Amino acid sequence: MSKLYLVTGGAGFIGSHIVQRLVKRGERVRVVDNLCTGEIERLASVLSVIDFVEEDLADPAVCDRVVDGVDYVLHQAAIPSVQRSIRDPMASNRANITATLNVLESCRTHGVRRLVYAASSSVYGDTKVLPKREDMPATPLSPYALQKFVGERYAKLYFDLYKLETVSLRYFNVFGPSQDPYSEYSAVIPKFITKLLAGEKLTIFGDGEQSRDFTYVENVVQANLLALTADGAAGKMMNLGCGTRISLNQLVKQLENILGLNAQVEYLPARAGDVRDSLADIGLAERLLGYQPRVSVEDGLARTVDWFRNHASR
Ligand SMILES: NC(=O)c1ccc[n+]([C@@H]2O[C@H](COP(=O)([O-])OP(=O)(O)OC[C@H]3O[C@@H](n4cnc5c(N)ncnc54)[C@H](O)[C@@H]3O)[C@@H](O)[C@H]2O)c1
Repeated sequence: MSKLYLVTGGAGFIGSHIVQRLVKRGERVRVVDNLCTGEIERLASVLSVIDFVEEDLADPAVCDRVVDGVDYVLHQAAIPSVQRSIRDPMASNRANITATLNVLESCRTHGVRRLVYAASSSVYGDTKVLPKREDMPATPLSPYALQKFVGERYAKLYFDLYKLETVSLRYFNVFGPSQDPYSEYSAVIPKFITKLLAGEKLTIFGDGEQSRDFTYVENVVQANLLALTADGAAGKMMNLGCGTRISLNQLVKQLENILGLNAQVEYLPARAGDVRDSLADIGLAERLLGYQPRVSVEDGLARTVDWFRNHASR
């Protein structure tokens, strides 16, 4: 029997890209998602060949059921917004910590070979030193960042205490096709693209000189698949970015060039919990996984704009 892969949060932005890649590779895939931020439409093209379970991982009995028979877990499920966690820390705690612990515990009892955990660069907080390296202290500025930190520490403990193989990837601002542009908690790139396509003005919190290591989703998929089997990666946590950064003002310029238009930008006061600058040192992922970002920010932006041109319809 071929290996079974469980993608938690597989109806989410990143999870659905992982699912599609696994299906393309001919793997057997199970998805569990309660659709709290996910959308089943993202899986429309593969729904007939995967096992889709619409359940909440905060329930340990659900975890036990969906992990049964699984070889590899890609744990993407979370409520992934800094601002939402500030407004409602209890709900995001439940999705980000309780559900993660349930998944780890079920993996332990069912003898899963390896779990890859979607950790977050937000754990670094506002460190002045760039690029951010894994040996820098965690200084979470929001419930979300703290919860993702607890998740990766639990993953490490499950390796140290129970020999469950876990690998944590600290994603840096992932973007790409199918990312939700419409929620008030949406990430900046899909939001900007859909607003520009609709001829609406953009809002930037702060002066626009804050910078991010924007990472195209295909690079993240690649790293997840490498992390499932890489020798020497078990028990490790590492950055997963592109290793380059641009400011929001530069991002707007690049989008203006791709779309061939001039953006109107409104600047509002900076928000609590947002970090100023972010850039990954990706040396550890290069060494441990053989990871190399194959898609640059420029190419990723062009592909993402293309996708939204063809799909944005709300
Ligand atoms: N997008 C980024 O830039 C970024 C950066 C750092 C880390 N991450 C992490 O990557 C992962 C995926 O993020 P995304 O951007 O695809 O977000 P997303 O919101 O699109 O996907 C998360 C998915 O998890 C599901 N989910 C949430 N709680 C659940 C629960 N209790 N039970 C079952 N399913 C549940 C949601 O319905 C959704 O489909 C998250 O763990 C997030 O913290 C993302």
